[in-house]
Amino acid sequence: AQLNLIARATGKLYFGTATDIPVLNDTAYTAILNDTKQFGQITAENSMKWLLTEPSRGNFTFQAADTIAHLAETQHKLLRGHNCVWHNQLPDWVTAGNFSAPVLASIITTHCSTLVSRYRGHVYVHSWDVVNEPFNEDGTFQSNVFFDTLNISYIPIALHSARSADPLAKLYINEFNIEYAGPKSTGMQNLVKSLKRAGVPIQGIGLQFHMTVGEVPSTAQLAANMAAFTALGVEVAITELDVRMTLPATPALLAQQKADYEAIIAACHITARCVGVTVWDFTDKYSWVPGAFAGLGAACPWDENLEKKPAYEGIVKGFL
Ligand code: G3I
Repeated sequence: AQLNLIARATGKLYFGTATDIPVLNDTAYTAILNDTKQFGQITAENSMKWLLTEPSRGNFTFQAADTIAHLAETQHKLLRGHNCVWHNQLPDWVTAGNFSAPVLASIITTHCSTLVSRYRGHVYVHSWDVVNEPFNEDGTFQSNVFFDTLNISYIPIALHSARSADPLAKLYINEFNIEYAGPKSTGMQNLVKSLKRAGVPIQGIGLQFHMTVGEVPSTAQLAANMAAFTALGVEVAITELDVRMTLPATPALLAQQKADYEAIIAACHITARCVGVTVWDFTDKYSWVPGAFAGLGAACPWDENLEKKPAYEGIVKGFL
C-alpha cells in the first residue's frame, strides 16, 4: 500500500512530506517524492520562512518559495504554507529592529499578506502555518521580538492579515510538544478559545510530532489530546512527523520505531478532524535530526539509501 493512497482511502485529505530546493536534484529522491500515490502534499522545509522571503525590509525574494509552490502545482500536490511568523530563521532587521508596536504590527501585516497572497486562489494551497511555535514548555508565551513588542496581539494581527490575503486557505497555528496533554497543550487550547471568542480566524492546529523512539504516548492518549483541540472547533493535522532514535539503528530500535509510527498514525486515523499527515522529509538521507541532535537520527520511514524501513509498514498499519 502507498501512503497517500491509503490515507485518502481512509478519509484523510493527504499524506505528505517536507521537502526543499537543495534535494530536488537527487533524481532517486524525486522519483519517490513525485509519486502522488505516496505523497499528496508538500511543505517547504525552509524556503517560505521570513529569512528567505523578506531578507530586508520590503524586499521580497520568492524564487525558492515559488519553486516549491510550482512543484506542488505541477506534481498535483497540496501545499501547506510554512510559515508567516516565527522567532527562528528571522532576519536581523526584524529581530534587532527596535520597532515601536504600531510599526512592528505593520511589518507583520505586510509580511503575512505579501507571502500568503502570492499563492492565493490556487487549488493546491491547503493551509498556512500563520504562527509557528508561540509557546514555552510551561504553556506561557515565548519571549521574542513579536511578543515583547506586541504581547499576544501579534497572533490576531498575523491571522487577520493572512485571512484577508487568502480567504480560502485554512489558517493554522503550529507547535511542538502539544501532541499529548500537558501545560503547553493546555496553553494552546486556551489560546484557541480566546481567539474564537474574539472572532479571530483560526481553523487548525498543527501538531508537529517530532518524537523519540520508545517515548511515544499511547494512541488513546494522543487521540484524547486531538479531541481536546477538535472540541474547540478547529481541525488538527500532523505537520512535521519524525521519530528519532539513538544511532546506530538496530533491529530492536527499528521495530520500536515501527510501533511508534503506527501508534501516532492510528490516533489521526480515529480522529475524524485530523485531516492529514506530513513527515518532516521522508528519508534519513535528508532529515534535519542528525544536524540538530548529535548521536540521534534514523527518524524517517525511508532510510538513507531510500529503502523503506519497518516504520513504513507501521504507518500503513496505523491507517487500517
Ligand atoms: O542555508 C544555509 C547555508 O547557506 C549554510 O551554508 C548552512 C551552514 O550551516 O546553513 C544553511 O541554513 C540552514 C538551514 O536549515 C537550511 O539548510 C540552517 O543553518 C539550519 O539551522 C536550518 O535548519 C532548519 C531549522 O528548521 C531551523 O530552525 C531545518 O532545516 C528545518 O528542518 C527546521 O524545521 C523546523 C520547522 O520549520 C519548525 N518546527 C521544527 C522544525 C525542526 O527544527
